[in-house]
Amino acid sequence: MTAVVKGAEPAEPPVLSRHWGEPESWTLHSYETHNGYAALRNALQQSPDDIIEMVKASGLRGRGGAGFPVGVKWSFIPQTDPADPDAPDPRPHYLVVNADESEPGTCKDIPLMFASPHSLIEGAIIAAYAIRAAHAFIYVRGEVASVLRRLRTAVEEAYTAGYLGYDILGSGFDLELVVHAGAGAYICGEETALLDSLEGRRGQPRLRPPFPAVAGLYASPTVVNNVESIASVPPIIRNGVDWFRSMGTEKSPGFTLYSLSGHVARPGQYEAPLGVTLRELLDRAGGVRAGHRLKFWTPGGSSTPILTGDHLDAPLDYEGVGDAGSMLGTKALQIFDETTCVVRAVLRWTEFYAHESCGKCTPCREGTYWLVQLLARVEAGQGTEADLDIITDVTNSIVGKSFCALGDGAGSPIVSSLKYFRDEYLAHFDGGCPFDPHASTLFSD
Ligand code: NAI
Ligand code: SF4
Repeated sequence: MTAVVKGAEPAEPPVLSRHWGEPESWTLHSYETHNGYAALRNALQQSPDDIIEMVKASGLRGRGGAGFPVGVKWSFIPQTDPADPDAPDPRPHYLVVNADESEPGTCKDIPLMFASPHSLIEGAIIAAYAIRAAHAFIYVRGEVASVLRRLRTAVEEAYTAGYLGYDILGSGFDLELVVHAGAGAYICGEETALLDSLEGRRGQPRLRPPFPAVAGLYASPTVVNNVESIASVPPIIRNGVDWFRSMGTEKSPGFTLYSLSGHVARPGQYEAPLGVTLRELLDRAGGVRAGHRLKFWTPGGSSTPILTGDHLDAPLDYEGVGDAGSMLGTKALQIFDETTCVVRAVLRWTEFYAHESCGKCTPCREGTYWLVQLLARVEAGQGTEADLDIITDVTNSIVGKSFCALGDGAGSPIVSSLKYFRDEYLAHFDGGCPFDPHASTLFSD
């Protein structure tokens, strides 16, 4: 936990969310007033390889949860014909923006698309140019109809203005951009399930490798990037690599969006350099709700192990949260005060995973079902201490043995809550849940 966070004090002005509060921030006119599409004009004057090198040098890491370096991922797209290294790759390349934000507590991509859809569209055009893709897709979570409408309107505006379609800004580069609505399955946020869904199939994860960069959409080289990752590209092109690296930490440079929810005075999206701490973010958000104290929290949604008040000063970057025993994930900070029953919270999350399990592999399909039965019995005060061993056994049969990351995510809150709050589980065996179900306001029914 020795990372030096540059730009944390005093707080850097926000980048992605700077204009969200302005009237009609979502229109092309508003976006252009703030230098919108200047980065695209700049990028089209450089070679695609130069753009990839620049994004690589910036150190931008994927904001969807895994933190994989964005420029490195782009560089995996083959540029030459495997059969003839002097000829360009004959296969089509695709860019797919993963806008299926569904991780519990995560609420950053949806507000970004709602308030500033053109920042995503500009980033997508630059990314497609860099990887030499003539077709791009934005796969949006289907339930958010208002975001879909706004994004589609923005795409139409971009076509009309000549930022999309044939010969973009006279550069000779062509791009078709399609906004596709998902149908509300959490698993379709997993990149290969998303590709199956986009191809018209039932969304279920594919075996990796091959990764999408090698064989993705329609078996062609495909980059799948998160919304925030792509929207972070235009500011890097506009302001340069040194500017981006002047914020955050050496291994996790730049700024990012954190979502704060739960028992916090002012929930919402907070933009800050990577490496900021929960203590600093809570200061900005007015602290834990009045009269209460922090009990536990998630750094990156329910798929990341929970942490406690002992971890308030862990740097919220890919290394710092790891040192604290969790993962940064989607940067969804869910805050729970002392009125929350941790067993009830874990039961509620496990019900979510059991419901969203796609059923492809046995450990996750069967294991999450049985975990719900066991946790419900414990929570109702009808279990015994032996149930905790069975819960641990079943969790161990899922984590690391499932086909995709959903199974591992399901195990995270269980393992970590037993680590920090075993006594609270035990307290349930003596007359049931010791908490007032109405005091917490979260997970109360
Ligand atoms: P991953 O670490 O397996 O892959 C990350 C990215 O790097 C992928 O795009 C993958 O294709 C690419 N990649 C990795 N190794 C590669 C290689 N050798 N060659 C080419 N490409 C390679 O992580 P995964 O399973 O894609 O995502 C898991 C994360 O998703 C979790 O950490 C979780 O936080 C997050 N998540 C986000 C949700 C949301 O709503 N935003 C929902 C659920 C999970
Ligand atoms: Fe489907 Fe769960 Fe297996 Fe992933 S881990 S493939 S969601 S059953």
